Amino acid sequence: MSASAQTVVSPADVIITEYNSVEDPLTDELPDAFRGLDVFIDRKLGNCVACHTNFDVAAMQFLGEIGPNLDWIGDRLSEGEIRAVLVDAKIVLGDQTVMPAFYTARPGFRTLESFQGKTILSALQVEDVVAYLSSLSQETGFDGVD
Ligand code: HEC
Repeated sequence: MSASAQTVVSPADVIITEYNSVEDPLTDELPDAFRGLDVFIDRKLGNCVACHTNFDVAAMQFLGEIGPNLDWIGDRLSEGEIRAVLVDAKIVLGDQTVMPAFYTARPGFRTLESFQGKTILSALQVEDVVAYLSSLSQETGFDGVD
């Protein structure tokens, strides 16, 4: 832990550009791709595997394939573009998408009253997943953290 307080961009202050990118990290805390993989897999966190596969999770059971395969996603999307999809897929992919908006506090977005106004993922968890997905790059020959 650093001595200084961490700066976190609150959901209402996140700017998604017209090119569907969020340029700046949501926190100045250092992201970690390994934690990002945990968030990706964890059914109570990102639960990305309910809809997405990739090399890392190919051996897991009950994978969903509603969403596109995310192998080499780091070559297809910039960090800012990945961040934007995670922040609010309803804005970036369209409000018909089944992909949850992971970093919005929009009213009416969470159905459970106890979750109202709370994001699904924390700023750091989003950044961990951004670091993880960005690392999946053919250019660097890195296909996963395991
Ligand atoms: C309920 C299903 C669902 C969940 C859960 C989900 N997604 Fe998605 N995701 C989709 C769908 C479907 C699309 C494609 C756009 C569309 O058809 O709406 C997509 C698109 C994407 C894209 C853009 C892919 C591209 O090629 O442009 C990324 C990146 C992504 N998802 C990452 C994630 C991550 C990371 C998580 C977990 C934190 C996650 N998704 C959770 C359904 C889901």
